[in-house]
Amino acid sequence: MEHAFRKLLMKKKLVPLLFTGAILSCKTENEKITYGTNEWREYLGGPERNHYSPLNQINKENVSQLKVAWEYHTKDSGQIQCNPIIVDGVLYAMTATTRPFALDAATGKEIWKGDHEGPDSYSSSRGVAYWEKGDDRRILFTRGPWLYAVDARTGKPVASFGENGRTSLKSGLGETSADKMVMSNTPGTVFEDLIVMPMRLSEGSDAALGHIQAFNIVTGKLAWVFKTIPGPGEFGYDTWPPDTYKNTSGVGAANNWSGMSVDKQRGILFVPTGSAADDFYGANRYGANLFANCLLALDARTGKRIWHFQFVHHDILDRDCPAPPNLITVKHNGKVIDAVAQTTKQGFVFLFNRETGEPLFPITEKPVPASDVPGERAWPTQPFPEKPAPYARQFFTKDDINPYAENKDELSRQLDSSRSEGPFTPLSEKGTIIYPGLDGGAEWGGAAADPDGILYVNSNEMAWRIMLGPANTKDQHISMTSGQSLYATNCATCHGTQRRGNPASGYPSLLNISGSRSRDFVRNIMENGKGMMPSFPKLNEEQKDAIVGFLFGDEKQEPGLAKEPGKKRSEKKDSVVRYSISGYIKFLDKDGYPAMRPPWGTLNAIDMNTGEYLWTVTYGEYPELQQAKGIPQTGSESYGGPVVTASGLLFISGTKDAFFRVYDKKDGKLLWKTQLPAANFATPSTYEVNGRQYVVLACGGTKLGAKGGDSYVAFALP
Ligand code: HEC
Repeated sequence: MEHAFRKLLMKKKLVPLLFTGAILSCKTENEKITYGTNEWREYLGGPERNHYSPLNQINKENVSQLKVAWEYHTKDSGQIQCNPIIVDGVLYAMTATTRPFALDAATGKEIWKGDHEGPDSYSSSRGVAYWEKGDDRRILFTRGPWLYAVDARTGKPVASFGENGRTSLKSGLGETSADKMVMSNTPGTVFEDLIVMPMRLSEGSDAALGHIQAFNIVTGKLAWVFKTIPGPGEFGYDTWPPDTYKNTSGVGAANNWSGMSVDKQRGILFVPTGSAADDFYGANRYGANLFANCLLALDARTGKRIWHFQFVHHDILDRDCPAPPNLITVKHNGKVIDAVAQTTKQGFVFLFNRETGEPLFPITEKPVPASDVPGERAWPTQPFPEKPAPYARQFFTKDDINPYAENKDELSRQLDSSRSEGPFTPLSEKGTIIYPGLDGGAEWGGAAADPDGILYVNSNEMAWRIMLGPANTKDQHISMTSGQSLYATNCATCHGTQRRGNPASGYPSLLNISGSRSRDFVRNIMENGKGMMPSFPKLNEEQKDAIVGFLFGDEKQEPGLAKEPGKKRSEKKDSVVRYSISGYIKFLDKDGYPAMRPPWGTLNAIDMNTGEYLWTVTYGEYPELQQAKGIPQTGSESYGGPVVTASGLLFISGTKDAFFRVYDKKDGKLLWKTQLPAANFATPSTYEVNGRQYVVLACGGTKLGAKGGDSYVAFALP
């Protein structure tokens, strides 16, 4: 069956992998791997995104002497996912309200901070990009739908860039993006005079197109566009219903949001993409959906495709590629090969030859379960690499219920009444256990890699339990000025139809919001988003007022009761997604801990030369469980990746317990840990200034219910 299916794929040109035979240079065994400098000039340490530093001042013997060298307060608050960059002794980063700033990296003294235009935006920026040419030095960052360029020395806008220092991230997306949410959390990838931009879009039926756009850094002008939902005559067009590329059928996205890597010598850009939207119901996008959920190798100068590989065909589980791939060098069958390794939420890491896209470990298409939701046709097979083994468990059975949970029987019943058939179990009306969960496996923190070809990846072990039911689309036609129906269409997937949210999963309750927040606050959050909360540019003033009115109790709550006879929204009928999820709901026990057996988080060292694990340790802890109940270390979710150094250390944080931990990269032994002022949901950076090595972490807290903070903390030896 598998074989027959593959044949079918070939016939229909749905070949998961395309070899175009791009022959570029070959590496000899003697060539040195050069990545890493004593600065941290780019996001995640360099264009290879390996989180690697050749520094060795801080080592196994002295790491326990690390002290806080400086702490910089941003004076705003909210989650900070930023990985700071350090260039010529200056640290550049973002605040929680997306203001860029520059510090003396040795002292933490502020050099400049960007001006604040408009209301606060809380889009969890992951950092900035640096570019220089001669004397011209620029910092590029985003805020809302704009890419900005400022002078790296002063923070002042570069007036000649775009319109007075900014250019629109919608430039190459076409008309349908005009009233849609387009922003970017992850810094762009700089190659020569180009910056290629990730984008964050809606994940529902109002998603914009997820084209990959390159901008000229000198002028701000759009340089090239690669279409992730191809048009007629283009490769991959027949993997979608006709005309999907027009973005009028309620299908969009297939965007890169997690960032990219670039092989500067070869001029190849590696772009991991996310799922098409709507994330969870694909009846209106039947097909494999190229180039969603792919690793794309593009010519960095032109945006032309060299090769691609699709990790999930017709994704209906939000299995976006979560992080930029690592560009590593490995030895396979006695040959030294420049390779690219992609981590995934489903727990697999895939390894390819960088030039040809040839998998270095065989990948097999295996049958996966069918969907029982009306209209949905789940793809019959998905790719599984033979090696390495997954870094997250793949099945959730009765034996996997958390033995420490007090309501084990109830959890067992919930599991029994749900579909739980492995990593590609489609959503269902009765409920599906999504495991590995919506946040991985691996997440946006990314993996670290050293020159030996060892990959270090922290992995979440969290199951989610979600139902997919008929969406209440009736309301939409009664009146689109009714706050309640606008709430139902735009807000209920996350905040719940009853407005109770799901605080344990990070989605706040909006009941009684009038007691704690002002109307302006709620309006602002709809306009600008906050953390995982998207912005809603398509809502007009009247509609926003109506939602605020509904939340503040101005409106009676009988279904569909409108204050005014409604203006109908000019939405096409076929753009209505008929099924929607019950909410983003983690599968938790009655005390809010994961419903499955620990570990709930791990840290792994995988030798990508052999595909074998060197070690796996439980990562993260719940001190209250260990201390009060004597439960052994459970591990926990983490957001933010590790950093690996030449001295053999792994620096990592990312957990709610707000510890910064240092491990021995050889055996995964914990060498030292210290408490941060607030949790660090980001990847650290390490660098040297005036002969002293620093490690810096963004401590904004506020995710997973952690307390908030507003500082960047740098550690160094005394
Ligand atoms: C994709 C999920 C999602 C959708 C859709 C969504 N929200 Fe949110 N919302 C969140 C999350 C997550 C937070 C918490 C953000 C944070 O603090 O980092 C939040 C926070 C909020 C808050 C702040 C609560 C507080 O007291 O701090 C308000 C108000 C809010 N949302 C209103 C809305 C409204 C109104 C809509 C619909 C127009 C909406 N949200 C749609 C996910 C969502």
